[in-house]
Amino acid sequence: MANEPDATANGQSAEDLRWMTEAIDLASLGRGQVEPNPPVGCVLVRDSVCIGKGYHQRFGGPHAEVEALSDCADATGATAYVSLEPCCHHGKTPPCADALIRAQVARVVVSVVDPFDQVDGGGIERLRSAGIEVTTGVAKEAGEDLLGAYLKRVRTGMPWVIAKWAMSLDGRIATKTGESKWITGPAARTAVHELRASVDAIAVGMGTVIADNPLLTVRLPQIADAKPPGGTNPKIASSTRQLVRLVYARSRLPDLQTQLVQTASETPTWVIAGPQIANADLAKLADHDVETWQCESSDPIEMIRQSLLWLGSNDNPRGLAMTHLMVEGGSQLLGSFAAARQLDEVHAFIAGKCIGGRDAPGPLGDPGVEALTDATSLRISRLDSFDNDVRLIYRR
Ligand SMILES: NC(=O)c1ccc[n+]([C@@H]2O[C@H](COP(=O)([O-])OP(=O)(O)OC[C@H]3O[C@@H](n4cnc5c(N)ncnc54)[C@H](OP(=O)(O)O)[C@@H]3O)[C@@H](O)[C@H]2O)c1
Repeated sequence: MANEPDATANGQSAEDLRWMTEAIDLASLGRGQVEPNPPVGCVLVRDSVCIGKGYHQRFGGPHAEVEALSDCADATGATAYVSLEPCCHHGKTPPCADALIRAQVARVVVSVVDPFDQVDGGGIERLRSAGIEVTTGVAKEAGEDLLGAYLKRVRTGMPWVIAKWAMSLDGRIATKTGESKWITGPAARTAVHELRASVDAIAVGMGTVIADNPLLTVRLPQIADAKPPGGTNPKIASSTRQLVRLVYARSRLPDLQTQLVQTASETPTWVIAGPQIANADLAKLADHDVETWQCESSDPIEMIRQSLLWLGSNDNPRGLAMTHLMVEGGSQLLGSFAAARQLDEVHAFIAGKCIGGRDAPGPLGDPGVEALTDATSLRISRLDSFDNDVRLIYRR
């Protein structure tokens, strides 16, 4: 819906901004539970008083507008603040635009117009045809920020990529001998496990599998019931999703004795392989419940692009598009994501240690850019400290 005029163009009323901010805050409560659907919040207001509110809580469950309408006895004449355009198609639930029309709201205020091709302005049109006043673009930047991953998947078919690395104060992710356990302290590592619990998949390269033999599960005290060592994450299982562990293997496959392969029957483990790997070798992994998928290209950057399109489609073994992919390293794999211009968010954990050594790797092992103008530019979103470590979160 290219020509929809924004409230931003005409200035936004403080009242609209206030209620939309509340709708966006509510929407954020659904993050990690609703994907691949978008997190959405809705607040119903009459005479400057909130008369109902709700958010989309789980994939397949009622949408935010329906939750808010069922939170109030009578919405006649109210204004509905919705962080994403109400849908106008029958998906897992009936159209929310129709529910708002039936409830006889007088006005609908929308933050972000939904680019999903079955909506794309259709919800707004349907509301206007029913005589409801619609304003769009209120708190648009905050709305788009919350919906970043959803918007990327709808526009490109690829999941949002979160690169995470732990590095020393002098920018090394391992020593010159490859040792990296542990650069940061326990509190920072707990934060990493929390991040893992919110994504669809965690990826590492074969170099990390060989060097660290990682398990890549969620291990948090508050979800101690997670079945070790596979560690099926109950938070994700309850939202129909289970964390997937991904290995990027271009020419070498993980040894059958690695922890990832040995626990593949408990926690989904997929290998993204280069085209030159023999089918017989892939079959050995399949015998251990490892799902394998071969890229057509062996070019490291093209492999990233092809694999992201596959993960973002319903054709992957889970049968459901992925919205958030976390890449945990190492340097070569992260470098390929950077070179493919696919770093959407970076969580850099920095420890109070200096490692030194020209041969000790930094986080991005690609050839790098020559001019600063070609660097990937991200903006700071958050800064936290954990004992003697800090975490910087930057987003596209
Ligand atoms: N501090 C941290 O946060 C952290 C996190 C993870 C790892 N590490 C450390 O990093 C080191 C390992 O890093 P690394 O750079 O050597 O290995 P890596 O990035 O984990 O893996 C690189 C390997 O992955 C394979 N690969 C498959 N697809 C690829 C693609 N599209 N792009 C790039 N590689 C692809 C390649 O195999 P082929 O050789 O067959 O091409 C390549 O050799 C270890 O010392 C580990 O301890 C540190």
